[in-house]
Amino acid sequence: MAGLIPRAFIDELLARTDIVEVIGSRVPLKKAGREWKACCPFHGEKTPSFTVSQQKQFYHCFGCGAHGTALTFLMEHDRLPFPEAVEDLAGRAGLEVPREGGPGPDPRDRLLDDLFELTANADQHFRDALKESERAKDYLKRRGLVGETAARYHLGYAPAGWDVMLRKFGATDAGRQSLLAAGLIIERSADQQKSSGPGFYDRFRDRIMFPIRDSRGRVVGFGGRVIDQGEPKYLNSPETQLFHKGRELYGLYEARQELRNIPRLLVVEGYMDVVRLAQAGIHYAVATLGTATTPEHLNRLFRITGDVVFSFDGDRAGRQAAWRALETCLPFTKEGRQLKFLFLPDGHDPDTLVAEEGREAFEARLEGALPLSEYLVRHLAAEIDLGSVDGRARLAELARPLIARIPEGVYRELLVDRLAREVRMPAPRLGELLGLGEGAGRAAAPGAGPATGPEQRRSRPARSGGRGSLVSQAIARLVQQPAAALGIPDPESLRLCGDRGLDVLAELIEMAQAQPHLSSAQLVERWRERPEHERLAELAALPLPELEPAAVARELAAAVGRLAAEAGPERRLDELIEKAGSEGLSEDEKRELRELQVRPRKPE
Ligand code: UTP
Ligand code: MN
Repeated sequence: MAGLIPRAFIDELLARTDIVEVIGSRVPLKKAGREWKACCPFHGEKTPSFTVSQQKQFYHCFGCGAHGTALTFLMEHDRLPFPEAVEDLAGRAGLEVPREGGPGPDPRDRLLDDLFELTANADQHFRDALKESERAKDYLKRRGLVGETAARYHLGYAPAGWDVMLRKFGATDAGRQSLLAAGLIIERSADQQKSSGPGFYDRFRDRIMFPIRDSRGRVVGFGGRVIDQGEPKYLNSPETQLFHKGRELYGLYEARQELRNIPRLLVVEGYMDVVRLAQAGIHYAVATLGTATTPEHLNRLFRITGDVVFSFDGDRAGRQAAWRALETCLPFTKEGRQLKFLFLPDGHDPDTLVAEEGREAFEARLEGALPLSEYLVRHLAAEIDLGSVDGRARLAELARPLIARIPEGVYRELLVDRLAREVRMPAPRLGELLGLGEGAGRAAAPGAGPATGPEQRRSRPARSGGRGSLVSQAIARLVQQPAAALGIPDPESLRLCGDRGLDVLAELIEMAQAQPHLSSAQLVERWRERPEHERLAELAALPLPELEPAAVARELAAAVGRLAAEAGPERRLDELIEKAGSEGLSEDEKRELRELQVRPRKPE
C-alpha cells in the first residue's frame, strides 16, 4: 500500500509537518531544554521519560523504548494504518495525497475493505451457528468456558458440511473470489476436479472457531479446533492479504479492550490458554499462532509494555521452544525491560493449570518466573564443567554469540558480571574472553595482559564486534544529522566486503549527500518498507551528545575512513581463514594470515 504513495510526497509531507505539534495535540508536552517531554502514552508511568525532538522530528521513550516519526506516532497511538496516517498529516498540512496509478480511491484499499467486510460477516455467521449447535456449546462447556467468555472472544462454530460458507457468501463469482482471498474456501485440486468436478469447498467444517482480530478489532483470520478428536487439531487461516501469522498475536485486541493500561503481557502457546486465562481474570495473555515468537511479535509486545513473560510447557519440546524464544529476544533486551520465562509442570498448559489452581496461584508463578539473564546463565552453566579451565573456555565460546546479540549497554554489562560470577572469573577477564570490544571489555584494560598464543585467534571476534558497533555509531550520527554526510569522500569504498551494515551506511551517505537538508525523520521514513527500518529508527532515537554539525561531520569522516581501510584486509582475512579450513594454506598464505592477524589497529 505504502508503495503507491510516492516517496517524494512523504518527504514533502514530513517537511511541512512538525512532530511537536502532532504529538502535542494528543499528549501534554512540556519544554525541557531543546526537547519536549511528557509521560509516555505507550506505557504507564509517573515520571516523564517520553521525549520529542524537534530537530530530529523524532520521538523516543526511555522507559518502554517506543520511538519513531510523526507517521509512526499516528500509526501506534491512533492505531492508523500507514496510508491513513499519511492522509491525516496531509489533511493538517493542506496537501492532497497523490497516488501513483491514477486518481480516485486506491483499488487495493477497496479490495481490503471488501475482505474485512467478509471476515466480519463470517465471524457473525460462526457466532450464530454456535448458538444453534448443542454439540458445539456442549464441547465449550466441557472445556469449562462460560457464555460470557465465548461472547468476549467471539467464539463460534463452523457447521459440518462442505459448502455452508460457499452457499451463504459465494453465490457470485466475485463472492467466491473474496472467500478464496480471505482463506475461507479452498479450490479443489486438479485431481479432485477429475472426480468431483470443478469448484471449491469450505475450509472450516465442524470446528470451534476462534476469530483473530487485529489491533483495531477487525477480523483478519480464524483458528478452528476440531471438536474432540481429529486431525489436525487446529486449522488456521492461510496467509492472506489480511493475515500474517508471524505478526498477529491472538488475544491482544481483547486484552486492550479489557485493560486500559496493560502492565504486563504473558505469551502463551494456545488459543484455549488465552481464553481460559481471561476467564480466570488474567486478561493480559496473548498467543502466537502455532509459530515461534518472531521479532515482529516482540516489536509489537514491547510497544505496549516492557514486562513480558513467556510461558512454556515443561516437556522437552517446551524447553526447546523456550531457548529459541530466548535467542529471538536477545536483541530486544535492555535496561528497564523485564523478560521472563515461565516453565510449567510437565503435562500442564496454562489452560489446565489456571483451571486447577486459580488466578492467584498462577500469578504467583508469573512472579517467580526466571528472568532471561538467569535462564541464559543456568542453561549455559548446565552444559559444562565449570571446575575445569576447558569448561570455562567452553562457556565463553557458548556465550559469545549470544552476548554479541545483546545491545551494548548496562544490561549487557550486568549480564557479563553475572556470568563472570558463575564461572568465578573477574568480569573484565571474561569480557575479554567474550571478545567484547567495549563495555565489560574496556574495563579490562588495566589488568589484562597482551594477547598471546591462542588469544590471537580470540582477537578476531573482538575486531568484528568493535567494527559492528563502529558501523552502528557512524549510522547513528548520520541519521541524526544527515547534513554531516556532506564532507565524506567516496562512500563507494565501503561497499567492498559484502557487509550489510557497511552497504547500508554507504547508501545512507549517498541519500544524505543528495539531499543534505533531510531531517532524521525523512531519512528513516525512506526505509519504512525495508528490513533495516526498525534498526535505523532505533539509532535515530538514540540519545547522543548534542554536537555541532561540523564536529559530527569530523567524527563521521574518521569512522568511515577507518571502516573503509579495514574493509579490504578484513575480507582477505576471512578468505584465508575459510581456505585454511577447507583446502589448506601455502607457506606464503600462512605468513600473510599471521601478519593480518597481528596487524596493528588504531585504538577506537
Ligand atoms: P496445543 O496442541 O498445545 O493446543 O497447541 P492447545 O492450545 O492446548 O489446545 P487444546 O487445549 O487441546 O484445545 C498450541 C497451539 O498451536 C497451534 C494452535 O495455535 C494451538 O492453539 N496448533 C496446534 C496448530 O496451529 N495446529 C495444530 O494442529 C495444533
Ligand atoms: Mn490445551
